[in-house]
Amino acid sequence: MSTSVKLEMWSGFRDNALSSSFVQNYSSYDVVKLVVISVGFCVLLSKAWRRHGGGKGEIPGRLGWPFLGETFAFLSATNSTKGCYEFVRLRRLWHGKWFKTRIFGKTHVFVPSPEGAKTIFSNDFVQFNKGYVKSMADAVGRRSLLCVPVESHKRIRRLLSDPFSMPSLAKFVTKFDKMVSDRLQIKAAKGESFRLLDFSMKVTFDSMCEMLMSVRDPSLLDEIQSLCDDVSNAMLSLPLMIPGTRYYKGIKGREKLMKVFGDMIGKRRSGEESWEEDFLQSMLCKDSLPPEERLEDEEIMDNLITLIIAGQTTTAAAIMWSVKFLNDNQQAQDLLREEQLLIDKNKPHGEALTLGDLNAMSYASKVMKETLRMSNVLLWFPRVALDDCRIEGLKIQKGWHVNIDATCIHYDPSFYKDPMQFNPSRFDERQKPYTYMPFGSGPRTCLGINMAKVTMLVFLHRLAGGYKWSVDDPDTNLEKKSHIPRLRSGCPITLIPIEN
Ligand code: HEM
Repeated sequence: MSTSVKLEMWSGFRDNALSSSFVQNYSSYDVVKLVVISVGFCVLLSKAWRRHGGGKGEIPGRLGWPFLGETFAFLSATNSTKGCYEFVRLRRLWHGKWFKTRIFGKTHVFVPSPEGAKTIFSNDFVQFNKGYVKSMADAVGRRSLLCVPVESHKRIRRLLSDPFSMPSLAKFVTKFDKMVSDRLQIKAAKGESFRLLDFSMKVTFDSMCEMLMSVRDPSLLDEIQSLCDDVSNAMLSLPLMIPGTRYYKGIKGREKLMKVFGDMIGKRRSGEESWEEDFLQSMLCKDSLPPEERLEDEEIMDNLITLIIAGQTTTAAAIMWSVKFLNDNQQAQDLLREEQLLIDKNKPHGEALTLGDLNAMSYASKVMKETLRMSNVLLWFPRVALDDCRIEGLKIQKGWHVNIDATCIHYDPSFYKDPMQFNPSRFDERQKPYTYMPFGSGPRTCLGINMAKVTMLVFLHRLAGGYKWSVDDPDTNLEKKSHIPRLRSGCPITLIPIEN
């Protein structure tokens, strides 16, 4: 058909239409209304279509500009007092449970289901792996559990594990118990408000350094803490070795930390420094074993940094949230206190807690679980697809980041009734597989899971069994620029000793 014929047909149709009774009988207001309704209908239809993956297993979402994608929106959420999960929450409202986005040039899919979590965790290292982040490897070290390939990961993890087993933690429990009891007493005696987050950061750090390397000297503890902070800040920074940047500070911090740890190892080996039974010594006493049964010095040192960084902020934040949630739910606080007072009653006065006592803390253990469910200290667990694949029938391309969205699963009302209610008793019932995973799952399950649990139980026992408290700032805003949700206020509290 020639162009002129087509034009003729179109103008004929237009002329007929214009002269038709349709236009004559309806006002321009009606036409506008019709257009708006039609456009709205099309938008809804296309949304529904995308939500259902367009029927072809496509995941809905907005990739935005090339490379940049939605990076600015992500950074803006991270820099706000709502926290970076707000970015995820909003996109779920817009696109549905499954969605994809682009951040820093990489496509990310947020995986919202237990089935998806199971697929990824049970294929960890095979079909999925942790994404390689240069700044992270440079900061914590290439021999860190967080960075090594699968074969080394298995060996290093096996050799690191023993000091974190429950029986090995008995001594840690006694020491941590004394540390927490003494420090709470000092705070209570002062009768002043203090930031609980600072308290929990310091006590978890000091107790970890004691357990790992028997470091007690306050100035050395301060030095290691400040260097670890620098390393931790560099882990997700731009790897630019320019003075003044977070990356530069972190790399310099790492060099100094390596020197501190290296000196410590050297002095223990030469006998210049007496040693105690601690994590470091349990690694060094394998010196005479064949290579596959011991760790090289670099592996020990990289993993010392890793353990401190992975263990301190997470546990400290969880402790802070437990206090906040218990403050908001007086009934749970009373039940927790009742259990702790009963445990105390059955022990000689002043005796330290044992693993047996912790086993008897059935309600405290539910408080701990519920705290971890609601606080989602690690919001999601990132992996990268090593090949094209499908999760629940949805297409995932090689190189895409698939983030197991533990927060979404922990807040899903189909697994947790009234998910935003702090209700420890919900853990009277067993959870369905992959619906509760604050410590991850599979070969990368948290190495410090037992240590984190006993730390929280001892803290809950000493706090609720010895004191009532008021939270002195009701502000619920979150700290800006933190990937671990923490209250901006630091959760200030005042302790009120319980009269026995
Ligand atoms: C409440 C406190 C804690 C929480 C919520 C927590 C959570 C987690 C989670 C979810 C993972 C897995 C992440 C993933 O799969 O991508 C993990 C890994 C890890 N955690 Fe923890 N953690 C806590 C305390 C600790 C402590 C106290 C330590 C050690 C002292 C520790 C050491 C580690 C290490 C080394 C890994 C890496 C394991 C590997 O890749 O094989 N964590 N943690």
